[in-house]
Amino acid sequence: MSAESRQTESMSSKILLHRSVIKQMTASMKRRIFGLWETGHELFKSTPQSFPTSFIEGDILNTSFLSAIPPFTKDSPPATTVPSLNSIASESLNDLRGHVSAVYTGYLFHLFPEKQQEQIARGLAGLLSPEPGSMILGVQDGRFAKGFLAPAASDLRMFCHSPESWKELWEGIFGKGCVEVKAELRPAVGGDSFFGMFPQNKDPFHNMEWSVTRLDCKEAGL
Ligand SMILES: C[S@@+](CC[C@H](N)C(=O)[O-])C[C@H]1O[C@@H](n2cnc3c(N)ncnc32)[C@H](O)[C@@H]1O
Repeated sequence: MSAESRQTESMSSKILLHRSVIKQMTASMKRRIFGLWETGHELFKSTPQSFPTSFIEGDILNTSFLSAIPPFTKDSPPATTVPSLNSIASESLNDLRGHVSAVYTGYLFHLFPEKQQEQIARGLAGLLSPEPGSMILGVQDGRFAKGFLAPAASDLRMFCHSPESWKELWEGIFGKGCVEVKAELRPAVGGDSFFGMFPQNKDPFHNMEWSVTRLDCKEAGL
């Protein structure tokens, strides 16, 4: 195979992957901000036809919207059939349990205390398909040692995981050896003062970028 045809093949698989993802995509926020999605289409030069995404509004802490259940496994797969795009636009993320290939969460987890972060993690884990390769990924504020982000001279206190405690949390949910967890800290943009919001702060802010990928594993979820 020539270098040129290899490149063409790799480009078309990227396009196929992209197309198959967007056919099944849904987005969720606590409250929909009207106009935001339309601005996104304008920014990325997409349309509701080229980027068909449903939207589910709800409180992720409300168990009728997302409840914590043990992850499905190949030995105990979901009893429901894969929902169609229309039924995805229903009222609850729980309808998607066991059928989701990839979940992305952006700057979400650090908004909640440690116990609630675990509740959300267990809820999202229950949405994942048992297929190896299905994954949850995201980014949020993180710390070198798990604990509170508390910038000097401010009342802000946000519980943040470290890469190690984050790995422990997910391995506790799926079972050790049943997931590959990657987590890395990167200095956040905005400097120690976070764009001047915390002028006296000297404890640098870090973003934690992470992914949790299911592996082929016989062990049932914990
Ligand atoms: C800091 S914004 C991040 C927005 C976007 N994901 C990003 O990466 O830029 C936090 C997001 O968390 C969502 N959120 C906060 N509390 C929530 C809750 N209790 N249930 C569902 N979503 C929530 C908000 O709706 C908002 O979209």
